[in-house]
Amino acid sequence: MLTGLLLAVLGAAATPLPAQTTNTEKTDTLSVLPEAVPVLRIKADQVTAQVNPMLYGLMTEEINFSYEGGLYGELVRNRTFKANPTNAVYWSAINGSISLDTNQPLNAALNVSLKLDTSKASQSTPAGIENGGYWGIPVRPNTAYRASFYAKGEHFNGPLTVSLVHIATTNGETATTLASATIPKISGDWQKYEVTLTTGDVPVSKENQLVITTTKPGTFFNHHGTVSFQQVSLFPPTFNNRPNGNRADIMQLLADMNPKFLRLPGGNYLEGNSIAERFDWKKTIGDISQRPGHESPWNYWSTDGFGLMEYQDWCEDLHMEPLLAVYAGFSLPTPENNRRGTSVKVGPDLEPYVQDALDEIEYVTGSTNTTWGAQRAKDGHPAAFPLHYVEVGNEDQFDRYEGGTYDGRFAQFFNAIKAKYPDLKVIATTPVKSVTPDLVDEHYYKSQEQMEAQSHMYDTRSRTNSTKVFVGEWATRVGSPTPNMAGALGDAAWMCCMERNSDIVLLESYAPLFVNVSDLKRGGSMQWPSDLIGYDALTSYGSPSYYAQVMFSTHHGDNVLATDSQDIPTHPWQPPQRTRNGVPQGEAPAPQEMPSLFYDATRDSRTGMIYLKVVNRQSTSQPMRVQISGASAVEAEGQALVLKAGSPDDTNSIQEPRKIVPVAEKVDGLGTDFTRDFPPYSITILELKAK
Ligand code: AHR
Repeated sequence: MLTGLLLAVLGAAATPLPAQTTNTEKTDTLSVLPEAVPVLRIKADQVTAQVNPMLYGLMTEEINFSYEGGLYGELVRNRTFKANPTNAVYWSAINGSISLDTNQPLNAALNVSLKLDTSKASQSTPAGIENGGYWGIPVRPNTAYRASFYAKGEHFNGPLTVSLVHIATTNGETATTLASATIPKISGDWQKYEVTLTTGDVPVSKENQLVITTTKPGTFFNHHGTVSFQQVSLFPPTFNNRPNGNRADIMQLLADMNPKFLRLPGGNYLEGNSIAERFDWKKTIGDISQRPGHESPWNYWSTDGFGLMEYQDWCEDLHMEPLLAVYAGFSLPTPENNRRGTSVKVGPDLEPYVQDALDEIEYVTGSTNTTWGAQRAKDGHPAAFPLHYVEVGNEDQFDRYEGGTYDGRFAQFFNAIKAKYPDLKVIATTPVKSVTPDLVDEHYYKSQEQMEAQSHMYDTRSRTNSTKVFVGEWATRVGSPTPNMAGALGDAAWMCCMERNSDIVLLESYAPLFVNVSDLKRGGSMQWPSDLIGYDALTSYGSPSYYAQVMFSTHHGDNVLATDSQDIPTHPWQPPQRTRNGVPQGEAPAPQEMPSLFYDATRDSRTGMIYLKVVNRQSTSQPMRVQISGASAVEAEGQALVLKAGSPDDTNSIQEPRKIVPVAEKVDGLGTDFTRDFPPYSITILELKAK
């Protein structure tokens, strides 16, 4: 395998590289063309690897308001009043006062409520509470919204009116009721109330609030009337009409990616900033009013309304399977633990966590005769979910204080999981020695040039290692909040590498998946810039990187074909120097000569179709000659799917959601030997009908 070595060629001249070979031990001699047009040779009869049908997947966690304020349909922010222990944040009072009350909890999980003093209420000036959602509440015409809450009156027995109110601020504040419903009586004990709010012919908007008011003070002699609330919720219609379900537009964007798995629930969200703040799956299942919620490591509260069952429903809705990451006894390095992280001692101390993981696997896959399979059935899903991959922890290379504990922790989980579930593939998050993991998860967050520089990395990886690779988090981090075309070009170069090396890279998932783009300042809706899909309360969009994912995941064969090339254009690149706290470390790295074109070819063994992917990162159009051997013929007509931009900085956004999208075009003049121009800043997938 020459390519990776050739890429390290030193020097700055932008001269064509000599012949490159990928995934084939044989280097054929190519005739040198006088004009030095690059040549790509595809060997249609030389299969170097099988593409894992599960190669393309999704990675997810609660970050950037991914679920609450994102995918999860809930429109009320801080519905359980636990986001802040002292303030009813995101709530305000109308003509009255509100306070957090811990004296009359709904239950042990939701142990605080919001108390409204109703004593000033009158017919003309109602008293109440209001919530503006996650940077707005989306309202559409002729749509039914399901509002619900728990309430309990004291010297107050109703009525309560629940409304969707539009707030216009252009010419002074005006409020217009878009839909409302009244609950005539409120009990003195906790009870759940539900109403449907149906809009008429109203304009689409997000400048809305959920408002609950009363016109009766309920006051009795000197006693002020009060009404207490818990779990105040508002849901729009959801994808597949699931109760407690997901936002339809974002689900559709994901469905278009045709993902095969979902790595869940993280990421750092799995680990938490402390053991108490890990993703404790048993607290995320069952009735949502029994879920206590927890603080996420991304510094906001999660109600856990989106819990383990909701992840499985998500998988089922998109016909993908979960790739279950289990908590492995390590929580994140933070200033509180002197940046060492918190690790559970290997042996008996770790055993409860191992048992939790086994229970979790049983919850997902067990028959209804098992304890946790029966619990799943009770929670509404008797059928087991498919599961082939379990990952133990997340980024455990950060458990390195005094040599770290991951080797022992992983072995304890691995042995227990394999003993009970021998067919499951168990993934380590960093290399270990005591046992042989089925896969190791590698993460890469890089610049465009760094991604391109490693785009032949797996070509030269040893094929003798029985541990395969899961690239469980990666992204070309160029552009914010979502990546631009430069990001997509780096991604595509890297995906060519992963797809070409499908014999060792079995699974890949980009990260992070989501970002709420409503409030991009520090402490707002984004914790991590460069995310695949962006949205506000009303609409969502895919970045150019998203479209690159869609293209790769929906256009490939099952066989990887041997390819080699000649005269691939190059450009010089100076790799950045490693720094620590801003101080350069070691010697400056040598400059590199980098390829400007990237490619791979796969073939559908049933139809014979060859999918040729070509990435041109240059500002100019690039002709390339394509020669196909090992196929008796290739039809002259085929299809090209092209994602391109006028500049690497071009991007999509809420305002321009479809500025850069793939365009399919019919092409002619194909065959076993043809030349085609690949546009500037472009990703092309050519469908070649080969016999
Ligand atoms: O994707 C964002 C974060 O990056 C993940 O939570 C973590 O695993 C990685 O460090």
